[in-house]
Formats: sequence, structure tokens, C-alpha cells
Amino acid sequence: MHPLVNIAVGAARSAGNLIMRHYDRVDELRVQTKQRNDFVTEVDRSAEARIIEHIHRANPNHAILGEESGASGSDEVRWIIDPLDGTTNFLHGFPQFAVSIGIEVRGKLEHGVVYNPYTQELYTASRGAGASLDGRRIRVSRASSLDGALLGTGFPFRDDQDIDAYVALFKDVMANTAGVRRAGAAALDLAFVAAGRLDGFWEQGLKPWDMAAGIVLVREAGGMVGDMAGRGDPMNTGNIVAGNPKVYEALGGKIMRHLRKR
Ligand code: IPD
Ligand code: CA
Ligand code: CA
Repeated sequence: MHPLVNIAVGAARSAGNLIMRHYDRVDELRVQTKQRNDFVTEVDRSAEARIIEHIHRANPNHAILGEESGASGSDEVRWIIDPLDGTTNFLHGFPQFAVSIGIEVRGKLEHGVVYNPYTQELYTASRGAGASLDGRRIRVSRASSLDGALLGTGFPFRDDQDIDAYVALFKDVMANTAGVRRAGAAALDLAFVAAGRLDGFWEQGLKPWDMAAGIVLVREAGGMVGDMAGRGDPMNTGNIVAGNPKVYEALGGKIMRHLRKR
């Protein structure tokens, strides 16, 4: 395992332990609303602080982009952290949430770690070295078309998002696949694509910390990741489509046809 991945795994497990200590007592948490339907608790903040402590203990100069604490430092290595992806699930005791840590070197995504503290499943990947779940190699699914495929998505929840356009696309996808799941933690959705549990995934309006680690996982598991408009980088636009190569092509094509209609 790459030394940086080792650090990320230690940090993710430690943050995961902290998260699970609060899981049965979510009623006692003070919840703040960042904007409508966007919540944060002291668990998110202290999990992020703990992750950053781990990183800086080993590498004091590394730069950070964290959901809760923002951007700090400047270095060729940058850690992109979502300390608790799926906060809404966590707050409801719905066991689908994760710690997500991506590592960029000179602007390129190199490593990804996603840890589900409830199931204790650990997903890791490094560019050129493949992706693993609990140390065992994972691959994207073999589904060869949308027909029969199981997809993941995220619903638009911010006021500035075009819900009608999303619903039209959703209807089209739903009618042509075996099913669509909205599990509520984008980092895990991407990890599920990497593990072949989902054949594809799409969501708009994500932030870099939702995707950084998951993108490395999907690519290293043999899948493809792109921006919905076909050009551009989802890390910049926030609009992601991912899947095994065949499903990626089919789903990406469908999304682009919808985008063109608007
Ligand atoms: C959210 C989750 C969710 C996605 C949202 C994200 P958070 O992250 O990944 O699945 O639909 O767009 O903001 O706020 O729970 O870290
Ligand atoms: Ca998130
Ligand atoms: Ca979060």
C-alpha cells in the first residue's frame, strides 16, 4: 500500500470510529443548516479535524481541501476530504454514510480511500495500482447495456437546480433499466460502481470532496468517469457520470441527448 494511502486509511478509520460513537445518539447532536437541506453537526467538524491531524502529523506541509474547514496550505500534495458523506442519512440512522479522502499530486488525482464505518468496508485505490475492497481486488460490473442495469443517482436538492430537467431524464433512465437507487452518499455510490454493485451512477451539483476518492476507485476498477456534458472534468463542474465502460457510454449518451433538448 502506498504510504499516503496508509495515512489516509488510518485517518478514515479514526474518523469512522468517532462517527460511530455518535450514531446511536444522533438525537443529542446540535444540527446546523448550511443552506436548505444541507446539514452539518459537530461530528462532521470533529471528524474532519481528526483526519487533518493525522495528515499533518505525518506531513505538516500538505495542502487540504476539506468540506468543513475549506482550503488551506499550498503544496504539490493536496488532500480532498469529506469527513462524513451522507450526513442526512447519518442523522436519520439510515446506515449509508462514509468517510471519503482523495489525494491529488500536482493537480492529478492519485489515491482514494472511502470507508463505511457502519459496515467497516474499506475501499482503496491508487492510480495504476487497481482498486480494492478490504484488500481484495474489485472490478466494475460486466453489464453490457442499460437494459437490465442497476444505476445510482442523487436527486437535486438545492433551490438553484433544474428539477424538471432532472425528472425528465430520470423517467427516461428508469424506463430503460432494471432500477435506480438514491442511497444518499455519493462517495459510496461511486465505490459501489467500482465494486460492481451498481452498473453506473450520475449526479449533478456535487462538490470535489464528494467525488475525489470515488473517481480514483472507479477508474482503477476499470470504469469510466466523466462530466455530463461530455467535455470537462466533474471535479470542476460537479456533474458526474460514471460506470463500467459500456454503461458509461450509454448513460452518458442519454444524458447528453437530454441536455441538448434544454
Ligand atoms: C451529500 C451526499 C449526497 C449527495 C449530495 C451531497 P454530504 O454529501 O453525497 O448523496 O446527493 O449532493 O452533498 O452533504 O452528506 O456530505
Ligand atoms: Ca458529501
Ligand atoms: Ca459531508
